[in-house]
Amino acid sequence: MKAIVFTKYGPPDVLHLKEVEKPAPKDSQVLVKIHAASVNAADWHLLRVDPFVVRLYFGLLKPKNTILGADISGLVEAVGRNVKHFQPGDEVFGDIFRSGFGGFAEYVCACEDALVLKPANISFEEAAAVPVAAITALQGLRDKGHIQPGQKVLINGASGGVGTFAVQIAKSFGAEVTAVCSTRNLDMARSIGADRVIDYTKEDFTKNEQRYDLILAANGYHSISDYKRALSPKGIYVMAGGSGAQMFQAIFLGPWMSMAGGKKMGSLTAKSNQKDLIFIKELLEAGKVKPVIDRRYPLSEVAQALRYLEEGHARGKVVITA
Ligand SMILES: NC(=O)c1ccc[n+]([C@@H]2O[C@H](COP(=O)([O-])OP(=O)(O)OC[C@H]3O[C@@H](n4cnc5c(N)ncnc54)[C@H](OP(=O)(O)O)[C@@H]3O)[C@@H](O)[C@H]2O)c1
Repeated sequence: MKAIVFTKYGPPDVLHLKEVEKPAPKDSQVLVKIHAASVNAADWHLLRVDPFVVRLYFGLLKPKNTILGADISGLVEAVGRNVKHFQPGDEVFGDIFRSGFGGFAEYVCACEDALVLKPANISFEEAAAVPVAAITALQGLRDKGHIQPGQKVLINGASGGVGTFAVQIAKSFGAEVTAVCSTRNLDMARSIGADRVIDYTKEDFTKNEQRYDLILAANGYHSISDYKRALSPKGIYVMAGGSGAQMFQAIFLGPWMSMAGGKKMGSLTAKSNQKDLIFIKELLEAGKVKPVIDRRYPLSEVAQALRYLEEGHARGKVVITA
């Protein structure tokens, strides 16, 4: 089969299209013929071993797993003998991070519990856009942010992969949503349900009088003290991604800043699981969430897709087509 392979860490130039052996499923695995995948920040963090600590988990000197790609959708081609819930011909999607990546290829073997049946009302490309970004948004809003109906919720970075899901998921919880994005994305943010939009090129939401019950920062973009100021007295700040300094602030200063009571400042490490993916599947089926796809690249152009994502201005998700 064809796959995008890397045998040493580095920039996207180290990725190459290669013929490799088609995998065979172990007893508890499902073999999926991949129809689409999507790129995530995790792919380029792993590729560039940025931060350095990535080496401790994925190979000190060279990568243990040589094919990246966590988000996939496709057709089940074969199942191991212990697989209970899938059969050949099923349309599935999922996050195969815990199965060792492998989504930038024609086939992959994944653990049964990484996959869920694809909703019939969305395409394979849309399904591949969902898992990592939507689960991050869901866990940030629901599990860390304790989102409640009627709350004022602000999503910073609302036009990216995580942000476009966060806006829609927050709306599905009955929140009043403010989306922060740049001028060119204001209409898109409104179209996916944002009640208010703030153009970050014209207005700094941390400096006006408005206060929010919950802020999800898809990327930091501001200091933790700016976010604290923008929260209501019992408000919660959740940082999903950001620069090294912003992550340090959220992870190490956040708990200290939260000790006084009142405002809670923290970060999120999303953990993919089948239950949450089923929750999101139901939102997709109900039409409450619709993936926003920015660009599509063929498998041979995964490097270009990652370079584009790394620029930090994707509008929704970047998808790899079979
Ligand atoms: N914590 C976790 O477990 C977890 C899981 C998954 C992902 N993440 C992290 O989540 C972060 C977000 O990922 P993503 O896929 O949504 O892509 P992304 O590349 O971070 O977001 C792109 C979007 O950010 C917007 N943006 C750029 N500068 C901005 C600013 N100053 N203010 C507001 N928006 C701005 C861009 O809009 P314009 O083009 O209009 O500027 C673009 O639409 C990444 O850092 C990733 O590492 C964390």
